[in-house]
Amino acid sequence: MLDKNSAKPMYVQIEEYLRERIKSGEFSVGNAIPSERKLTDSLGVSRMTVRQAITNLVTEGLLHRERGRGTYVTSPKVEQTLNGLTSFTEDMKDRKMIPSNRLVSFERVVPTADIVEGLQLKKDDEVFIVERIRYADDKPMAIERSYIPVVLAPDLNEIALCGSFYKFIEDKKELRISHATQSMEAVLVNKWDAKLLGLTDPSPVLIIERKSYLTNGLPFEIVRSTYRADRYKFVSEIRR
Ligand code: GLP
Repeated sequence: MLDKNSAKPMYVQIEEYLRERIKSGEFSVGNAIPSERKLTDSLGVSRMTVRQAITNLVTEGLLHRERGRGTYVTSPKVEQTLNGLTSFTEDMKDRKMIPSNRLVSFERVVPTADIVEGLQLKKDDEVFIVERIRYADDKPMAIERSYIPVVLAPDLNEIALCGSFYKFIEDKKELRISHATQSMEAVLVNKWDAKLLGLTDPSPVLIIERKSYLTNGLPFEIVRSTYRADRYKFVSEIRR
């Protein structure tokens, strides 16, 4: 089991030990793992080492602590494929989760030069800047900050943004969505986003930037999404 002579630090070995038991279901979702004291005794290591291993698995999203009660196995992360151009609403519904939104801000402004260029706007064209917290089954999953050309959807409003933006574009505006470019990077959450997402900082988040186009070749959104790394996992199929 644990090998004190190994070059691998003890806390890493304990992480692996816990990870295996979570994977096999011995420590199951929604249930508490043995207490720090029990693990310290049964594994014959210091309490600090056990705590370090648990903290790492909490940061990773496999475990969570409940004050005064213990450490619990968290439900598996939402697995998001990177293969199709789907909306948040579609993604959550596919997983039988209920999507909802909280509109944090909705403004109409003349954007900065990079957005003018990115959205292929003319000088003085306006954009909507929309900031939404996206929930699945009432749990905050992501924050999205979108830049949308006013000229494409001048009637975009708070009510439409409580539902699916893609549905609004396709059903209400009868525009056809074609493709997008997207990048992903891991960062530590900033204080403001931590508050909106219910995270304690510093926690890891995944930033996805997407620029999406209509079939006529015009970009209709630039979106920066901040996903909780403890609730999301991105998967893709790769071929040779
Ligand atoms: C995803 C994308 C965003 C897109 C959004 C639309 O979250 N990252 O770029 O704007 O879906 O979702 P919905 O149609 O549910 O508003």
